[in-house]
Amino acid sequence: MTKEFARHRRLRSSQGIRRLVRENTWHVDNLVYPMFVQEGLAHKEEIAAMPGVFHYGLDEFRREIAALSELNIPGIILFGLPAQKDDESSEAYNDEGIVQQAIRVAKKENPDLVVMTDVCLCQYNPAGHCGIVRNGKIVNDDSLTLIAKTALSHAAAGADIVAPSDMMDGRVQAIRSLLDDEGFTDVTILSYAVKYASAFYGPFREAAHSAPAFGDRRTYQMDPANVREAIREATSDLAEGADMLMVKPALSYLDVTRQIRELTSVPIATYNVSAEYSMVKAAAAKGWIDERAIVGEMMTSFRRAGADFILTYHAPDLARWEREARGE
Ligand code: PBG
Repeated sequence: MTKEFARHRRLRSSQGIRRLVRENTWHVDNLVYPMFVQEGLAHKEEIAAMPGVFHYGLDEFRREIAALSELNIPGIILFGLPAQKDDESSEAYNDEGIVQQAIRVAKKENPDLVVMTDVCLCQYNPAGHCGIVRNGKIVNDDSLTLIAKTALSHAAAGADIVAPSDMMDGRVQAIRSLLDDEGFTDVTILSYAVKYASAFYGPFREAAHSAPAFGDRRTYQMDPANVREAIREATSDLAEGADMLMVKPALSYLDVTRQIRELTSVPIATYNVSAEYSMVKAAAAKGWIDERAIVGEMMTSFRRAGADFILTYHAPDLARWEREARGE
């Protein structure tokens, strides 16, 4: 009797076969851990809407870097909470600012840790916008100078990778040319090229004290309805000199990650943002989901969509779970 239908189940019939034919995996090597450092904080404080994620004072931060290094997590991305905010966002590019100090601490504690920094102004000015505000408008070109200065001061403190998240036009070019002029030709730019105006950033804004004081971010962050526009953003950032691109948020934008993957061969990151984390934690706390399985499946889906690496608050848990699964 001839076969009349395909036997797909043959390739799923045992754990060994499933392992052999598995197309996508995630590993601790693909993870970057976002961290919040707060100026003047004595210890650490848990962020209410993000259980297990903390604001760190510098001493606690040093201890946490040691723990992360022990878990073999390859990289972190830093966000700063300055003690003062002003209209010029001057703490963003203060060489003794909280992020600049944290970079030095991290590099001293573990020189092999890849230290990335979020380059943005929203945590540093009272308006809470990612660029400079004039007459109620977020002005583009004048913001570039400050954003480039911020990236330069991170590079000077020892950052390996600067990641502009402000979504002003031309910032990759402004950063690249200032870094090159100042001799930081090896500092890498990971552009938040495709960043949507998303409600999934809600818990982060509480965490970073960066909610806009007026209006919203829709004149600079992208409309969640658009994907051709993502191609334009990615294309122009590559032309301006971005070494790597990011798609953000991750979970609701897997199709966008796939399209950017097909557009370019440069490394792509995706940011598994705050509300994606909070939703998992809340449901897990209620006992409604299997947290490990859900988070693992999410990471696999980001890799399947085409992301090389993932910025995720779950990174330390994932590293521990991976270790446990190997029986260590
Ligand atoms: C700052 C910035 C934001 C996030 C990363 N960098 C917030 C925003 O743009 O409003 C979000 C990260 C998260 O939600 O986990 N521009």
